[in-house]
Parts: sequence; C-alpha cells; structure tokens
Amino acid sequence: MKVAFLASVSWLAPLAAAGPLGNTGNDGSVITVRSAFGDVVSTHTIPMRKHNLAPSTTHPALHGRANFPTRLKNILDVYYSIDLEVGNQTIPVSVDTGSSDTWMVQEPYECVSFWYEPGRKPDCGLGAGFKGNLSGGRLPDLPLFVRSYVDGTFVEGFYGLEDVTIGGVTAHNQRLALVNYTYWHGDNQTSGLLGLAYPYLTSLDGSDQNQPPYDPVFTTMWRSGAIDPVFSIALSRTAGQRNNAGSVPSGGKQQDSYLALGGLPPVDVDEKTWARTPIHGMNAVPQWGFETDERGMYIVKPDAFVIQKGGNSSDAGTDIVRNTTQTPILIDVGATLSYLPKGLVNQLYASFDPPAKYMSSGGLFYAMCNATVPKFGVQIGDSTFYMAPEDLLRQTVRDPTKQWCRIGVTDTDVPPHVLGVSFLTNVVAVFDVGKSEMRFAARKDY
Ligand SMILES: *[C@@H]1O[C@H](CO)[C@@H](O)[C@H](O)[C@H]1NC(C)=O
Ligand SMILES: *[C@@H]1O[C@H](CO)[C@@H](O)[C@H](O)[C@H]1NC(C)=O
Ligand SMILES: *[C@@H]1O[C@H](CO)[C@@H](O)[C@H](O)[C@H]1NC(C)=O
Ligand SMILES: *[C@@H]1O[C@H](CO)[C@@H](O)[C@H](O)[C@H]1NC(C)=O
Ligand SMILES: *[C@@H]1O[C@H](CO)[C@@H](O)[C@H](O)[C@H]1NC(C)=O
Ligand SMILES: *[C@@H]1O[C@H](CO)[C@@H](O)[C@H](O)[C@H]1NC(C)=O
Ligand SMILES: *[C@@H]1O[C@H](CO)[C@@H](O)[C@H](O)[C@H]1NC(C)=O
Repeated sequence: MKVAFLASVSWLAPLAAAGPLGNTGNDGSVITVRSAFGDVVSTHTIPMRKHNLAPSTTHPALHGRANFPTRLKNILDVYYSIDLEVGNQTIPVSVDTGSSDTWMVQEPYECVSFWYEPGRKPDCGLGAGFKGNLSGGRLPDLPLFVRSYVDGTFVEGFYGLEDVTIGGVTAHNQRLALVNYTYWHGDNQTSGLLGLAYPYLTSLDGSDQNQPPYDPVFTTMWRSGAIDPVFSIALSRTAGQRNNAGSVPSGGKQQDSYLALGGLPPVDVDEKTWARTPIHGMNAVPQWGFETDERGMYIVKPDAFVIQKGGNSSDAGTDIVRNTTQTPILIDVGATLSYLPKGLVNQLYASFDPPAKYMSSGGLFYAMCNATVPKFGVQIGDSTFYMAPEDLLRQTVRDPTKQWCRIGVTDTDVPPHVLGVSFLTNVVAVFDVGKSEMRFAARKDY
C-alpha cells in the first residue's frame, strides 16, 4: 500500500504527499523554527531506525587500500537505517555519510563466506532485496560494482537505473548498484546502503580508481531542484517510541532519529548554539595523497577539543586540556565511535576517575562503568558541543565481567579521524553542500 503510493510521488507533487511527518513535531504541533542561519524544518523528513548489533571483539584494522579512505566498518555496534523506495519496492538500507554509492542486494543473490566453514551455510544477515528488473535497465559498459571493507566483507554487482524516493523526494532514473554476490554480516534488517557523500568518491571506482563520477541519490535530488542542496541528521540515543503504524504516540518524547532532506529535522535544539564551519576538500587529509581540493566527504576542522573535570566537585567544569590544533575530521553517521588523535584521546582516558584502560578482550579502551566521566567537547565557532556521559562511557557495551564499559572515543593516528554516532547523538548536524559548510546545534535533552 505504502509502496504503491510512494512510487507515484514526484517532487512536483503537492507537499501534502510528502509523507506522514510533514513539518509537525512529535506531539503534532507545527514547528516553525527558522534557525540562526535561516534553516527551516524540512517537509521531506524520514525517521531513521536505530540498530544495536552485538559488539565486535576484533581490534580495528585501520588500514585500507592505498589512496582510498576506507570506511571504518568493524566497530559497528550501532547503526541507523531508513526505508528507501526503489521503483515501487521498499528496501531498508543503512545510512552512511562516509560513502556515496547506493546499493542493495537483488534477489536471488549469492552469499559467500570469507572463511571456509565446513557444513555451515553462510549467512550474510541481509534483509529482503530488490526483486525483478530495474525499470531503467542495467548500465552497460561499466566496470562491475565492487566494494570491499577492512573486515573482509565485500559486495559485488552491477549498475542500473531506477527511481529512488526518500521522504517524498524522488531521484528520477537514479544510478544505483544491485548486488548479487557478497560476504556480509548484518542483522537481517537492512538490504543495502544509502551513501550521502559527494559525487567525487564514485570516481574512485574500478581497479585504477579513476572512473567518470556520477551523481549519487542526494546530488540528483538537489540538482533537479526538488530540494535545497542541504540535508540534516538528528540521531537519538534511544530507539524511539514509534508504534507499529510508524507514528509517534502523542506525548512521546523526542526520541526519534531523522534524516531531513532540504532542511532541518523536527527536533528541538538549543538555538543559541548554532555554529558553522567549512567543509574541506579531499586534500585536507595529506595522508590520503589527493591533490584535488574537490569535496568528497564531510571533512571539517573543529576549532578546539576540550577535556574538563567531570563529577560534581567544586572544580568540575575546569579545563584539563584545550587543544586548538586544527585536525581534519570526517563527520560520519556510518561510524559508531569517534576516532581522534592518540595524544588527545590518551588525555581523555586519563581524565576518567579511575582512569580508562586498554582491554585486549575488547580490543578497545574501557573504564569502570561507575567511573567519574570527564566532560569532552568539540568546539566549532563559538559553541562547544559536549558528548553526553552516556556516549562517552557507553553503559550498554560492557566487557564480559560487566563492570567495564566501552568508551565512545577511540584513538588512531591513521586518518581518517572521525566524529561518529557517539558525537552525533548530541547535535543536529546540517550538511550544506550548497554553501560547502556544516552547521551544528546542540540537542535539547531527550
Ligand atoms: C528481466 O529481464 C530479463 C532480460 O533482460 C528477462 O529475461 C526477465 O524475464 C526479466 N525479469 C522480470 C521479472 O521481468
Ligand atoms: C512495479 O514496477 C514494475 C516495473 O517497474 C511492474 O512490472 C510491476 O507491475 C509494478 N508492481 C506494482 C505492484 O505496481
Ligand atoms: C552478477 O551480475 C553480473 C552482471 O550481470 C554477472 O556478470 C555475474 O555473473 C552475476 N553474479 C552472480 C553470482 O549472479
Ligand atoms: C538472521 O537470520 C538467520 C536465518 O534466519 C539466523 O540464523 C540469524 O541468527 C539471524 N541473524 C540475526 C543477527 O538476527
Ligand atoms: C556527587 O556525586 C557522587 C557520586 O558521583 C554522589 O554520591 C554525591 O551525592 C554527589 N554530591 C552532590 C553534592 O551532589
Ligand atoms: C593537540 O592535538 C594534536 C593532534 O590533533 C597533537 O598532535 C598535539 O600533541 C596536541 N597538543 C597537546 C598540547 O596536547
Ligand atoms: C564501582 O564498582 C566497583 C565494582 O563494580 C566497586 O568495587 C566500586 O566500589 C564502585 N565504586 C563506586 C565509587 O561506587
């Protein structure tokens, strides 16, 4: 029912067709917020589902193919998904701002195992895929679509054309990839990926990583004039209170997560905290070796990182560290944790009381679940966005003794540095491709 309806919606359709959310708040009231920078709440908003995966216990292998900024897939214990309308089919996909392709499995597909496991049928944990043929057909004369990730997972398939609709906005005749051969480990609830980064990344395809780029879904949408060249994301820590019919019960708190196309998501923010910062080109990360200043991913340079005394003693909130070194950081909704420079993160670990320690069983840093948590903030412009204690010391992810909790920030000296879900659950993030800048505001408590 929903499927057939949405298939007929184009960007020319009246706003009434934009989907169940419109620009109303969770309690049904109309939100008329116009932010400090002129943003308004989008009528093209789609809820994002939060998924919790069993925490992986492998150490992150932070190296990828030469030249290519590999996605950090393997500490993925939380991710977010939406329903994509592909032609007239509904396909649940995970959302990623660190890549640009949109792909999904096509039924029937072949799931293989990276390791040989005798007598065991490999299980890729992918949901139902696209059935039948793409209305725009396959694209001939292109290399196969192949993506491999550091944890050994890969997808392989081919490109074709189909209408893709999100929140009532359609990318007509969109190039996407259908996957027919894969090794994957999912939770059976998504069947592919929506990549929201820039066209440039699509040119890094093929063995020589030098293909003509194409417009990803979001680019097609704004270039057609259907929406302004901006999208925004509000991730909530909680799973939300959506009922089976997909609507938020009245009186529900702001616990839902949203992807909003062309404007802001319908959540309350602290209006005083709006801040902006430029998006940098691929050459902002020298180690990647790109010469182009072309935008590819959402790379920003925060003005400072601050670590402050936590707890409730009289010196709580005083600075322990204020590091103003400009470091390029990827804003990546597809990464669970945040990955920051070693020197800084070691200072953060030491600021827990008692201090955090490395646990080889978990391959990451943990602190006592009842430790006093320091305040950790990312300064952008005049605003400092603090990570909530529950994102810094993740009570839901524990070691086998259940007494040690995983810290939401981990260290790496190998780029990319990343602000992932553990940061993004504290803000509304606006990805403004038109102005080449990102804007942030602090979420109100939820
Ligand atoms: C898909 O296309 C192929 C030929 O390109 C055709 O043989 C097949 O019947 C089509 N399948 C469906 C479900 O339409
Ligand atoms: C879905 O679209 C395909 C062609 O793209 C068509 O053959 C099929 O009848 C449509 N199904 C429904 C339920 O509309
Ligand atoms: C997947 O599709 C490609 C392109 O059509 C084809 O060459 C390949 O054999 C298919 N692989 C599988 C496992 O079906
Ligand atoms: C996914 O489904 C398969 C087969 O039904 C099942 O064996 C597996 O445990 C499921 N995985 C998860 C993460 O639920
Ligand atoms: C300070 O925090 C500790 C535990 O973190 C608590 O036991 C104590 O009651 C708090 N004191 C005040 C004055 O809030
Ligand atoms: C500040 O952080 C940078 C990395 O971003 C690090 O190299 C430097 O040592 C830090 N400075 C201080 C004083 O800790
Ligand atoms: C924290 O928990 C540990 C064990 O779970 C316990 O031994 C310790 O006393 C607790 N510390 C505080 C300050 O409550």
